[in-house]
Amino acid sequence: MTQARTRATAFAPASVGNVAVGFDILGHTVAALGDRVTATRRPEPGVSIRSITGVVADLPLEAERNTAGRAALALQQELGLTYGFDLEIEKGIPLGSGLGGSAASAVAAVVATAALVDSPPGRTQLLKFAMQGEEVASGSVHVDNIAPSLYGGLVLTVGIDNPHVKAIPVPESVRCVIVHPHMMLATREARAILKPTVPLGDVIWQQANLAGFLAGCYTDDLPLIRESLLDVVIEPQRRVLIPGFADVKQAALDAGALGCSISGAGPTMFAWAEAHDADAVCAGMVAAFARHGLETDRWVSAIDRQGARLVD
Ligand code: HSE
Repeated sequence: MTQARTRATAFAPASVGNVAVGFDILGHTVAALGDRVTATRRPEPGVSIRSITGVVADLPLEAERNTAGRAALALQQELGLTYGFDLEIEKGIPLGSGLGGSAASAVAAVVATAALVDSPPGRTQLLKFAMQGEEVASGSVHVDNIAPSLYGGLVLTVGIDNPHVKAIPVPESVRCVIVHPHMMLATREARAILKPTVPLGDVIWQQANLAGFLAGCYTDDLPLIRESLLDVVIEPQRRVLIPGFADVKQAALDAGALGCSISGAGPTMFAWAEAHDADAVCAGMVAAFARHGLETDRWVSAIDRQGARLVD
């Protein structure tokens, strides 16, 4: 057997969770930003976090309480490794932005550490280790950021204990517009406000939208995507957490967006648009946030099919 390497760096992209119609089960990558984790193999078991740098630095250094640390610990313990890892975390994704930052750190950690293991685990196992990291940050096990960050593209995940991950095709002309207002919203908080029950009529409407959206993606049917890319369950409850939500969404739709909603738990908002409308959609959303006193970062891109990867 060849000796595994002793040091590796992985990049894991940001992601849009839920994609409006698939609460906790659907997500897609945002290639423009992501987190990096460098893992170094060491003789003692366990995981230590040596540094956290980048756009967020005040995260827990204790491995059990850190998303990357917890995910790497899950890998180290569940594979029964007699050695351990030191981690250096470089955050590229703002905290509490709704862009899957905790998931990306967890994913980068498992991809980097897996590269240092003599018999590397498969991707489904990595997904499950990373899910344990995500749980530390958000208090719940959800895969809608973990799966796209690990696999890349638009991804549907069915099942928690035995997750099935499906890459969904995205029509060629679709671009994703991401507008991140400069404010923080904790996923825990945005989950805590959700009502535990949903009226039957809304369940039917939402499942029609999920089915229509997926069918539209598979058949390149943009009018069906436009009709279906609408969240009638979660967005109406969370929109109050985002200043200017209604104006930002209306600006996107007025500029021709196929749909516009909250990225993950927010406050970032995303829109899908055809390539020829995407810049105008972005400008409209940015201007609407500005009218509500919020500065923004923004990205327009195709939905990258590449997920987490080793970069060093
Ligand atoms: N799907 C989860 C939520 C996490 O909306 O609460 C999003 O990042």
